Amino acid sequence: MRIVVGITGGIAAYKVPELVRLLVKAGHEVRCAATEHALQFVTRPTLETVSGAPLYCDLFASGGTEHISLKDWGELLVVAPATANIIGKVAAGVADDALSTLLLAFSAKPVVMAPAMNSDMWAHPAVQRNLTTLRGWGIGIVGPAEGELACGVSGTGRMAEPGAITEAIANFEFGKTNFEEKESTNSRFRIQNSKLAGQRWLVTAGPTYEKIDAVRFIGNYSSGKMGFALAEALAEAGAEVELVSGPTHLDISTCQHINVHRVESAREMYAAATEVFPACQGAILSAAVADYRSAEQADHKLKKQGDEGMTLRLVQNPDILATLGTMKRDGQRLVGFALETDNELQNAEGKLRRKNLDFIVMNSLRDAGAGFGVDTNKVTILGADGSRKESPLMTKTEIARLIVNTVALTDTL
Ligand code: PMT
Repeated sequence: MRIVVGITGGIAAYKVPELVRLLVKAGHEVRCAATEHALQFVTRPTLETVSGAPLYCDLFASGGTEHISLKDWGELLVVAPATANIIGKVAAGVADDALSTLLLAFSAKPVVMAPAMNSDMWAHPAVQRNLTTLRGWGIGIVGPAEGELACGVSGTGRMAEPGAITEAIANFEFGKTNFEEKESTNSRFRIQNSKLAGQRWLVTAGPTYEKIDAVRFIGNYSSGKMGFALAEALAEAGAEVELVSGPTHLDISTCQHINVHRVESAREMYAAATEVFPACQGAILSAAVADYRSAEQADHKLKKQGDEGMTLRLVQNPDILATLGTMKRDGQRLVGFALETDNELQNAEGKLRRKNLDFIVMNSLRDAGAGFGVDTNKVTILGADGSRKESPLMTKTEIARLIVNTVALTDTL
């Protein structure tokens, strides 16, 4: 493939020669384009030597049309590192230097960006909003990773390693042009498939409805998006998936490897999940199960009686996750979710231990853009071995892939 590597002014630019080397080694032809600030961190001779081609940095070189020739030449544009500045410029359609002009000209061809910045900058709502725009246009976002940052603090913001960017490019879903995807939920990176080949996984998704009478129920705001994204990520990794879903409007019937069991109440979900779990290698329970149901369910519509209020007696539903925790055999992996509003980590750790889980995925309703209904989520994955992985706000598709990579594709706990 003919790849243009665009470099912007971040400290991680020093890793770009290694990225170019790996891309050339993988058989690609590479040309580099850099902003002036990028050349504070990596030199022109280095980039020209590793790519074997002249660097494009000056908008007015070659009569000011170089961005069009490079756009015609390139089949993929990879921006690494991508600063908050270039992300903002692309989202706003600003073209005021060589690279931003090239990016605008590249609009009909695939673009991948590897963001790198300070963790507070990464968390800024403007940066996250701009990334949502870019993803919605089909631009692939790789990373950033967590770890020590140039400013001395630890957090999310390190550029993905050159090897990870090269691997992401290998998994990039070509054949679509930018702007084809209307939803910001989509990610153009696929996880390595076939690793879970031959494995069966259970996923629970959506809400449960607990009937009160012929027309009313107790329910919650779960849309099923998180659970359906998990089922897709597992199927993409090669697994056969038993998806037990409460009432949702989502449809997944096109995926051959996902066997959908539609249920309504917690007791129906309990029956379906406990039946399929023994044949599974693992289970991820993301459903928002009603903890209580009405003690009596009327088959007719209950009528209003006088001006008095009405007392509904509730009884507890079975805890599906805790039950699977008691059924779990050696070698089976059990993953729960925790939806919290306060004392998040402490509560999640309590559930991890009490329910005999291998991992718990905590999401907090205090994080904007996380939890019920929305297309995005922000999670902390806690392992029984004390491990902890925090995600930035990402699409539920990307969160699902992160969860599958962490809980199903890692060998050790
Ligand atoms: O569906 P979306 O709109 O995409 O929203 C996603 C989500 C917010 C529902 C999801 O990310 C999430 O947090 N799911 C878990 C919600 C929840 O009920 O959390 P909990 O802390 O009350 O339950 C802890 C765990 O026990 C969960 O894995 C739950 O599935 C399980 N549970 C709870 C009660 C019960 N009776 N049986 C269970 O299996």
